[in-house]
Amino acid sequence: MGAGIAEVCARAHTDVLVCESTRELAAAGRARILRSLDRGVSSGKLTEREREQAASRLRFTSDLGDFADRQFVCEAIVEDEAVKTQIFADLDKVVADPNAVLASNTSSIPIMKLGMSTQHAERVIGMHFFNPVPVLPLVELVTTLMTSPEVSERAETFAHDVLGKQVIRSADRSGFIVNALLVPYLLSAIRMVESGFASEEDVDKGMVLGCAHPMGPLKLADLVGLDTIKAIADSMYEEFKEPLYSPPSLLLRMVEAGRLGKKTGRGFYRYA
Ligand code: CAA
Repeated sequence: MGAGIAEVCARAHTDVLVCESTRELAAAGRARILRSLDRGVSSGKLTEREREQAASRLRFTSDLGDFADRQFVCEAIVEDEAVKTQIFADLDKVVADPNAVLASNTSSIPIMKLGMSTQHAERVIGMHFFNPVPVLPLVELVTTLMTSPEVSERAETFAHDVLGKQVIRSADRSGFIVNALLVPYLLSAIRMVESGFASEEDVDKGMVLGCAHPMGPLKLADLVGLDTIKAIADSMYEEFKEPLYSPPSLLLRMVEAGRLGKKTGRGFYRYA
């Protein structure tokens, strides 16, 4: 998600600084974005010149201190509340401009929890993109009881006018709009396979051919990442105590086994 967000920002002519925890991860992130830009050129969506310009707007660092001059920061690290609250506390100390926006791409964690880990909760907002970010046109904006109207407006202007995304607004509730609807559906598909009700292929085929979804729920779970699905389900279950949000045992076992989906080469399906 981070690579996709950085890519769309660079393609929208903004100066982008990407922070990864190590140089190796930064190099891998850069390579991923360059591959995606190449794909844009080969599919005719980008010219060679646009690809070069977008690539030249991207800089990488592994030092959060380099974010001191940023006006807009979008966090997209692992879906773990403790890790995210720590990064927001650190970012808040580093980013000097008190009017800078600190946005989170969290899929489910209430934004207030991130805001309250900073001294400036008024500049913290949820800005949730969808995977693959260069393809899907939506951003969910999530303001908290503390987010200032100016920050909310700047985030909307950036998402809509600069990045060209459609914006929807959600209250600060775990899962927001899309995942509150999508994740119970994905978990139901996993339960269906777990109980022997139907095969992975047939569940997916059912939703693709019967409901015209672009991909079935198990393939989509693999794309999103099973660890991320589990984290979202945990967060929603913690907030609502709704049994449908509780992660099924099969999902827990697959995450424990490291079968996290497309990113690890194996989930409900195998990937080359
Ligand atoms: N980066 C850039 N472009 C990409 C891409 C990527 N990672 N993946 C696909 N594309 C582009 C392709 O270049 C292609 O463009 P053209 O039509 O111009 O050639 C187009 O998308 C279609 O791609 P493909 O032909 O390769 O494959 P497809 O038709 O099967 O589409 C898909 C692939 C876009 C992923 C499509 O199946 C899809 O939209 N699936 C649903 C994805 C979805 O629901 N995402 C939301 C997940 S939930 C989430 O992200 C939030 C969360 O918090 C969990």
